[in-house]
Amino acid sequence: MNQPVSGFSKKSKEEKIEWLAENYLQNNPNSVQILKNYWNEDTSLQQLHDDFIENTLSNYYLPFGIAPNFLINEKLYALPMVTEESSVVAAASNAAKFWLERGGFKAEVISTEKNGQIHFNFFGKEKDIEDFFEEVNPKLRDSIQSIEKNMKQRGGGLLELSLVDKSHILEGYFYIHATFETLDAMGANFINSCLEQMAHTFEAEARNFKPFQKDEIYPEVVMSILSNYVPECLVRAEVSCKVEELTTKHYEGKHFAEKFVRAIEIAKTETRRAVTHNKGIMNGVDAVVLATGNDFRAVEAGVHAYAARNSYYGSLTHAKIEDGIFTFWIELPLAVGTVGGLTSLHPLTKLAFEILQKPDAKELMKILAVAGLAQNFAAVRSLVTTGIQKGHMKMHLMNILNQLAASTDEKNEAVEFFKENAVSHSSVVSFLENLRK
Ligand code: MEV
Repeated sequence: MNQPVSGFSKKSKEEKIEWLAENYLQNNPNSVQILKNYWNEDTSLQQLHDDFIENTLSNYYLPFGIAPNFLINEKLYALPMVTEESSVVAAASNAAKFWLERGGFKAEVISTEKNGQIHFNFFGKEKDIEDFFEEVNPKLRDSIQSIEKNMKQRGGGLLELSLVDKSHILEGYFYIHATFETLDAMGANFINSCLEQMAHTFEAEARNFKPFQKDEIYPEVVMSILSNYVPECLVRAEVSCKVEELTTKHYEGKHFAEKFVRAIEIAKTETRRAVTHNKGIMNGVDAVVLATGNDFRAVEAGVHAYAARNSYYGSLTHAKIEDGIFTFWIELPLAVGTVGGLTSLHPLTKLAFEILQKPDAKELMKILAVAGLAQNFAAVRSLVTTGIQKGHMKMHLMNILNQLAASTDEKNEAVEFFKENAVSHSSVVSFLENLRK
């Protein structure tokens, strides 16, 4: 049985690997080599990656791909995408090309406000906490002057503070709701530093507030943290064209548009479909979020909460046909940054920003919304026409052929053969066996 380890973080990288191999990978003679195979020869680059997290043993590669031909507000972009899922980049590229020929994407940022809360307990009189909040409000602002200085100089900083009474839902629960403008930074560190400082000031000042002293009932801060729910940091992206322009070799435009709108209505109505529908949107959004070194968990959490804002979970995209015009759009809450964090550390992230022509945070929001819309267009288009398996299976076939170390000639033959035959792992194995006989 394995034993707990102490002082693990103090061990060198080699020692950590050795420990892991001895304790958890005894049956794998190649384990150490596998981990080392992914080390970078460039030791300073490797050191950079080692320092991103704690207890780093190796690097975990994900493909970095590119989806060209995105026309967004009349400007052409090639989107860097990081994902492990086959077909995602191809689908994005296809949708980009499709809309390039139909006027491209329009996108606009609706708002850019971030927020955080100081959650606290207060079991005294409601009037007292209201009076105290009014009195302490300017002091809270003053107490973050030094944290705010640079952000303020650039035009951002703390916006509003308000007191929210939730004691009708949870006894004694209140919070201070703080709103922020963080410009091109995602702002997590800035917001959390402001909140924690204000929380200290709040508690300290409460001790001097006479009405609290009288009954000896003081507010107690439970925690202070930004919210990843950012419905006031919103972006919208859209495509539209005449329904006839949707006609392709295989589909008549009007029929396609009607089926497409129906599919969106289903995703708006039925959570089981909505979750998968939105997952497809996030295939596009996350891939660009990852390529640009942003926090995909924050984006995911906020986006899904937004999808459920009307008390049920529904589609993040919308579609309509009006006067013969098909319009398809998305609205997403996105708190992302183009400065700070990984964005200025990871060489590939820096390159991704160069590829995107150095967008500011607002432009990145638009690009991300477009990536989501394009991905959803491609998925729903496949779903209501050919189905998705045809495209998927092509990639799946390649993955299997690679696993089986097929040569280029073998791959070409397999691609021809499986145009007419169903792909499965065993069918590919037997095809190759026959070929190799
Ligand atoms: C697969 O990763 C994503 C899809 O399932 C999305 C959808 O169903 O809309 C194809």
